[in-house]
Amino acid sequence: MKMSLLVFLPLASILGSAVRVESKQDRAIARTQAPTLQPLVRLLAEIDDPAVQLDVLRGMYEALQGRRGVRAPEGWSGVYRKLAASQNAEIREKVLQLSVLFGDPQALAALRRTAEDVRADVSARRNALQTLVEKRPDDLLPLLQKLLDDRDMRGSALRGLAVYGDPQTPSLILERYGKYTDAEKLDAVATLASRPAYALALLDAMEKGRVPRRDLSAFTARQLLAFNDKRLSERLTKVWGSIRPPSAEKTQLLARYKPLVMPDALKKADRKHGRSLFSRTCASCHTLFGEGGKIGPDLTGSQRANPEYLLTKLLDPSAVVARDYQMTVVTTKSGRVVSGLVKAENDKTLTLQTQNEIVRFDKTDIEDRQKSQQSMMPDGLLTPLSASELRDLIAYLSGSGQVPLPIAPSDKAK
Ligand code: HEC
Repeated sequence: MKMSLLVFLPLASILGSAVRVESKQDRAIARTQAPTLQPLVRLLAEIDDPAVQLDVLRGMYEALQGRRGVRAPEGWSGVYRKLAASQNAEIREKVLQLSVLFGDPQALAALRRTAEDVRADVSARRNALQTLVEKRPDDLLPLLQKLLDDRDMRGSALRGLAVYGDPQTPSLILERYGKYTDAEKLDAVATLASRPAYALALLDAMEKGRVPRRDLSAFTARQLLAFNDKRLSERLTKVWGSIRPPSAEKTQLLARYKPLVMPDALKKADRKHGRSLFSRTCASCHTLFGEGGKIGPDLTGSQRANPEYLLTKLLDPSAVVARDYQMTVVTTKSGRVVSGLVKAENDKTLTLQTQNEIVRFDKTDIEDRQKSQQSMMPDGLLTPLSASELRDLIAYLSGSGQVPLPIAPSDKAK
């Protein structure tokens, strides 16, 4: 155990600095060769301690993940044969994932088999698909579309489909929409919002009532406006509504909402119902009472006891935004738009935390990148809520301690 830690720590720094030096010399060479990996490959060929092997593999994978077009280092095929027969499942998985990153067609085929294999372990299947999606082989699309009918893999398939532009994809996703869990619906909408043509299909389905309006969050609506596509923006306004009420209206709204959240009014509130509203609208980004996402700040310790502060923030999230939380909007060369917070970056890759997943980009695939003044917290969160829903939500947020969720079948999915 001690031994393996010692190996692991310097590894990341060796790889890190080596990668940086390379890129200064020649980007093209750095992209296609991996000479710095050779000492590690030699080490893997020599040692037999699984703990050390695993540390080396993890370190290599960490340093290379998200990159495309990396060629296999010399001696890799021997290491692959040796470690593909390991007793340790994680070693086998990592060595396969690395081979895929190096573009080995046999490894690609093996991962594909794992992803498709309904008897294989679910997390191994999901990891396999994730690696394939990052590698983005030209012929992955049919598999992703097929996996929409596989319950265990549906979420991963829905996210993966965002990577490929294909005219079939929107209808395949939308035909099944009613069967998705809440989390899958979020994935489906995020993928459909990633390209203008997909988004138009989403809005058509919404107009026909096949997708409820509230499934498209204000966050996603803003992403659609960011395409600057006139036809799409007009459809959005017609089918879903407009996002930012003008400022004067905002002051009016605050005046109208305030009495709803005065202490007397809050006494009548149903905090359980408030919690289910929170799960639906806020929990993908915020933690409260130990549950929820980590994209925005944990609200448990915020100024949440002050209902008026909550209202102001909810009515105009972008009025004040902490620098750490400014959004970055990336457009890829294939026309996909992704907005999120920068989670990690080096000179080869950029990692964004979006509302529903972590997306890694090879920087050579990025066409454009903008920092937005907007908060990642969307405008218009209160628009779909009725007066009593607003009251319940604020009561839940500003109250002390967790309450149970109301019993309803749709809440079980979370
Ligand atoms: C898409 C992600 C996202 C969603 C959905 C979201 N928020 Fe936020 N929220 C953020 C981010 C990021 C910040 C921090 C940046 C900022 O202040 O704008 C934030 C900030 C806040 C703050 C200020 C926190 C502080 O410490 O001052 C409050 C309060 C808040 N959100 C409440 C809510 C509530 C209530 C909901 C649901 C109705 C919600 N948010 C939905 C991302 C989100």
